[in-house]
Amino acid sequence: MSTLSLETLHFLFSPEGDILMNEAGTLEGDFLTRLTRLRKSYPADQCSAALELLDLRKRAERKFSLAAQMFFTREALEQASGEVVARYRAKRFTEGSTVLDLACGIGGDTIGLASRCKVIAVDSDPVRLAMAERNLQVYGLADRVKFICEDVTQVPLQADAAFLDPSRRDRGRRVIGLNDLSPSLGFIQHLIQSVPNCAIKLSPGTDYDELESLGGELEFISNDGECKEALVWCGDFKTAMRRATILPCECTIMHEQVEPVRSGLPLAFLYEPDPAVIRAHLVEQLAHRIEARKIDDRIAYLTSPERVETPFASVYRVLHHMPFALKPIIAKLRQLNAGRVIVKKRGVPFDPLDIQKKIKTDGTEELVLVLTRLADQPHAIICGPMFKPGL
Ligand SMILES: C[S@@+](CC[C@H](N)C(=O)[O-])C[C@H]1O[C@@H](n2cnc3c(N)ncnc32)[C@H](O)[C@@H]1O
Repeated sequence: MSTLSLETLHFLFSPEGDILMNEAGTLEGDFLTRLTRLRKSYPADQCSAALELLDLRKRAERKFSLAAQMFFTREALEQASGEVVARYRAKRFTEGSTVLDLACGIGGDTIGLASRCKVIAVDSDPVRLAMAERNLQVYGLADRVKFICEDVTQVPLQADAAFLDPSRRDRGRRVIGLNDLSPSLGFIQHLIQSVPNCAIKLSPGTDYDELESLGGELEFISNDGECKEALVWCGDFKTAMRRATILPCECTIMHEQVEPVRSGLPLAFLYEPDPAVIRAHLVEQLAHRIEARKIDDRIAYLTSPERVETPFASVYRVLHHMPFALKPIIAKLRQLNAGRVIVKKRGVPFDPLDIQKKIKTDGTEELVLVLTRLADQPHAIICGPMFKPGL
């Protein structure tokens, strides 16, 4: 539940709230200085809520083009889907259909869905729901949405399709289980039975077997090189077993039966698959697509003699490779005129930061040192900097 009260939120929605926000926006200095200034004219809860909202609107700019007019709480903003991903996902929902947006928060996904569909948006937190309604007004889409403040387990699951984005209870574990969700796994299973055409957004760190147990298509979505989410698409939405999608380009690669890829020594170019491709277990499919081979059967690096530009991997030119031994590696880096060296590792127990500290080079070239395993032996691959797309 939010700490911001509904009463304070309604004040911020009001014309007086607008005046306070405008005044707060003109102030300079740290939080306390600005709070002290505002406190001369307004109650403390309104002043701190206004200053907090100003800060959140700034942070929200990377997610929402209209962030400057929207309403957030800190946690709800962190959990909210940004416009790029919400609009991408919404494209799989039939235009004009009625969609339940279950656990809608401040409406990040509702904005995407309402641009195509009629939406019933449900959340049990009244502050978040009020913010969602306001945020949809900002986008001129509120008349396409019915807002319901209720526990999702209590609403009739009647619609053409549903989207569910549960809260996660963070228990500090690396792998997240489906039992850590609110609403619960039991509700997710009930939803899949009740509204077969549904999509469930989950953390990409969710236990893989648990994700598969839901029986839908698994899609892993990456934005700017970071795997942000896993989606389970059920019913008619399921068009593949697994899929990796890269945003903002909306490039997608799906599972298909392929012959296993050979492995062999690094060739002229090294590919580091996007985390979404790795998470979706699609490295073999990518290898076929770019006509590359693996460097080792169990390592997710690919290599090819020609450079193929792909949105699904970062590409590096291989300058040299050798069995792992630090002294000769450093000597080779110096010979290659290395300056800054970025150390990456996969499949070996080295600490990249520790190795980075041990490498002292004063040349001019930025190089990448990849520590990995080849035929079960630790190996070093020295590469040029990552190719930027289009260059
Ligand atoms: C991850 S956030 C949703 C974010 C949203 N999709 C967005 O883009 O803004 C999860 C939401 O689930 C809501 N929630 C958790 N359990 C719920 C339940 N049983 N019924 C209704 N809402 C619930 C929380 O209040 C929270 O707003």
